[in-house]
Amino acid sequence: MLGIPEKDGELFINWIHDILELGIKDDRILMQAVQEMSAYFRRPDRAAQEASHRRPDFDVDERAGQERSAAVRRACAGTLRLLLIAGIDTTWSAIGASLWHLAKTPADRKRLIAEPELLPTAIEEFLRAYSPVTMAREVMKETEISGCPVKPGNMVLLSFPAANRDPAVFPDADRS
Ligand code: HEM
Repeated sequence: MLGIPEKDGELFINWIHDILELGIKDDRILMQAVQEMSAYFRRPDRAAQEASHRRPDFDVDERAGQERSAAVRRACAGTLRLLLIAGIDTTWSAIGASLWHLAKTPADRKRLIAEPELLPTAIEEFLRAYSPVTMAREVMKETEISGCPVKPGNMVLLSFPAANRDPAVFPDADRS
């Protein structure tokens, strides 16, 4: 989809590890990885053209072939970075948590083998119980959230893991 060679996989794995895991506590590691990744994607022409050639429905640069403005190049590089990070961290966390659950819960493992038609439900439940993704939003106008005042520019973390275990919504919410 991104038109980048599979052999670069180890590079991406290391960047995501540095940015999302080690980088949380170490700014130096974070900045280094972000810079390396940006330099890699500073060649959006090659990647975007390759991608739209393989997948006509994936066109990150509608002006391919023409001179591009800095804004379009930035948007293009940002889209490539977002797709790469969004595609790796989500899936390895979801797959890892699901395998860990099945490894420590033999009853669920046996049931899934005996009743493979339960797989779609099991996937929904793995996503709910282990919530591999959490999003943040920037506050746009002054308001209150559950009694807590927030101001424009504040960041709010939407705790999907808490919402997904809300007993008011899910029966036995905390049983996984
Ligand atoms: C278990 C797998 C995944 C989960 C749980 C997941 C979850 C999410 C969530 C919750 C959002 C919304 C973000 C927001 O509202 O700010 C999102 C956005 C996005 N995801 Fe995923 N995702 C998964 C897999 C993937 C994969 C495999 C890719 C790409 C290969 C991907 C690419 C994206 C992109 C590009 C966005 C941003 C869309 C936009 O802002 O318009 N995701 N994802």
